[in-house]
Amino acid sequence: MGVFYETIPKSMIKWILEQKVFWVATAPLSAVGHVNLSPKGGQYFGVIDERTFWYMDLTGSGNETISHLLEPGNGRATVLLNAFEGPPKIVRLWGQGRVLTNGTQAFSTFVDLHKVQTIPGTRSIIIVDIHQVGSSCGFSVPFYNFQEYRETLNDFFEKKDRKFKEGKVEESMDRYWAYKNAWSMDGLPGLPRAMEVGKEQNVAPIKKMVGPLALSRYHYGQGYTAAQVLLMVLASFLLGVAMTQYAPSLLSVGEKLATGVNGQ
Ligand SMILES: Cc1cc2nc3c(=O)[nH]c(=O)nc-3n(C[C@H](O)[C@H](O)[C@H](O)COP(=O)(O)O)c2cc1C
Repeated sequence: MGVFYETIPKSMIKWILEQKVFWVATAPLSAVGHVNLSPKGGQYFGVIDERTFWYMDLTGSGNETISHLLEPGNGRATVLLNAFEGPPKIVRLWGQGRVLTNGTQAFSTFVDLHKVQTIPGTRSIIIVDIHQVGSSCGFSVPFYNFQEYRETLNDFFEKKDRKFKEGKVEESMDRYWAYKNAWSMDGLPGLPRAMEVGKEQNVAPIKKMVGPLALSRYHYGQGYTAAQVLLMVLASFLLGVAMTQYAPSLLSVGEKLATGVNGQ
């Protein structure tokens, strides 16, 4: 029942565009990093051609997708859509994701070219360059009837934007991003602008993980992991033992050599 394609079949594009929500999965390169899955969608996505899918990334408390896409050598992304109405269907799009951050020239160019209506919560445009498409049956996906889009997130950032424009500088999106979107939960850098603003305006980033695993085992972006520290301690200890053991004989060999050279 599963069918694979190298590109999005033309017959599938209409169905993709009709979906109200989809999910994006990404992961850091580290084997101990956390795999992320985020809801996306609403009215903010599209298919440019048979190899290119895009969506407008809305601001939220997390920024895992951006961090994984920006990690050097990474960028892997899987988009999953499934039919909650009509004939059953599940589609996966596998590709490499690119981040066009709000405020950059690349972002403005894309938005202008594709006539994208941005909103105050718009954080970036994510483009996924697809190399594989999979469709499967979706026979047990339950039926849900669509009622309406939930406006809470949009309202939240519209209100924030209004307060900022009225003069409350602390309500800026930049400050929100610096606080919430500067680092991933594994300590990978997030939105570049958030990191800059964090430094410039002295905004401390939120602590993303709690409990004993926070800032140790998984947190590899701003320090060493516990395993790395243990390895360094062990290596230093072994080097110390070796030095105490062999240093005197190495010194005497050195002295003999020096005497031999001087004696000639
Ligand atoms: C249908 C839908 C539901 C969403 N729900 C939330 C939510 O509950 N909390 C949140 O912070 N962001 C939510 N968002 C916003 C995005 O998921 C946002 O991009 C989020 O911060 C995750 O970013 P990340 O994928 O980079 O981790 C939602 C977006 C959509 C389209």
